[in-house]
Amino acid sequence: MKKWKQKAIIQKTISYLPLSQMINFFFQKYVTKGVNLSDEYFYDRLGHARDHINSYRRYSNKLIPISCLEIGTGWYPIVPVSLFLLGADKIYSVDISFLTSKERVKTTLKKFIECNNQEQLKNYIDYNKERFNAIISILDEYEKLTFDEVLQKLNLNYLIEDARNLSLPENSIDLINSNNTFEHIYPEILKPILKDFKRVVKKNDGVMSHFIDMSDHFAHFDKSINIYNFLKFSDKEWKRIDNSIQPQNRIRIYDYKQIYFELDIPISEESSRKGNLDELRSVFLADKFKNFPLEEIAKSHCHFISNMKAIV
Ligand SMILES: C[S@@+](CC[C@H](N)C(=O)[O-])C[C@H]1O[C@@H](n2cnc3c(N)ncnc32)[C@H](O)[C@@H]1O
Repeated sequence: MKKWKQKAIIQKTISYLPLSQMINFFFQKYVTKGVNLSDEYFYDRLGHARDHINSYRRYSNKLIPISCLEIGTGWYPIVPVSLFLLGADKIYSVDISFLTSKERVKTTLKKFIECNNQEQLKNYIDYNKERFNAIISILDEYEKLTFDEVLQKLNLNYLIEDARNLSLPENSIDLINSNNTFEHIYPEILKPILKDFKRVVKKNDGVMSHFIDMSDHFAHFDKSINIYNFLKFSDKEWKRIDNSIQPQNRIRIYDYKQIYFELDIPISEESSRKGNLDELRSVFLADKFKNFPLEEIAKSHCHFISNMKAIV
């Protein structure tokens, strides 16, 4: 049996167990090695942090987003810590599961120090020196601090709630961002989430910046399949394969654009990776993907930036 199918079966089984997210973390850590904080992952998300900040600066009158919200931060809060280093005062991270821990935050902070020692950090973030020194002090007294104290010193607030109903006031957030998260949320949930983002983001000066990875994530782990493999299944077949720990909605760039259009959220800038048409042609597509241009289906990653001033 192919490796990706074994992983799909194991994740599906884990998804039915209590504490499924924690079990999945250890499964990925020790079996698929998918959750260790590698340099590759760290620099990829640091690059996203830089791109979110630059997106914000292109449309806002301010250099620093003071209040920020990220959905689906994951195990290591790389973008939130980048925003802290920049000077943000209120940094929210919303998720229905609490995926980080005191240990994983420490790993993240140490990675920032290492990155700075290698003279790399300044190439990504024009960070505030006092904020950087604050991270050094936090690490110096790390064992004495409670996890809550660490988060408080980093201006980081975890909202463990459904992003369809955020406990934040309207017009309160300068920058809303996400990385590789929307592809894990089915449209019937993503639409109300975006609707609530539209409510909380500042209409006079706010920006949204979302990176979406539309590739089959099983192909990241099993090189015997390509990133379009999941497009051969009908919705009914995919429902049997997909799992609730790391669901994949399989929707394409045109579906996301349609959602933005329906919610009247502007796409002020859009970029995408064109993917690989030969690889796409090697997959026998399910009927639901057959009526769209192959060039659009092939797009594997995209980044949407919304200047919320445009909706006033
Ligand atoms: C795969 S993870 C994101 C990965 C992470 N951003 C990264 O860069 O590695 C997607 C996250 O979205 C969260 N999520 C899904 N639906 C949500 C909802 N309705 N409200 C809040 N968070 C949600 C999931 O719990 C999950 O942690």
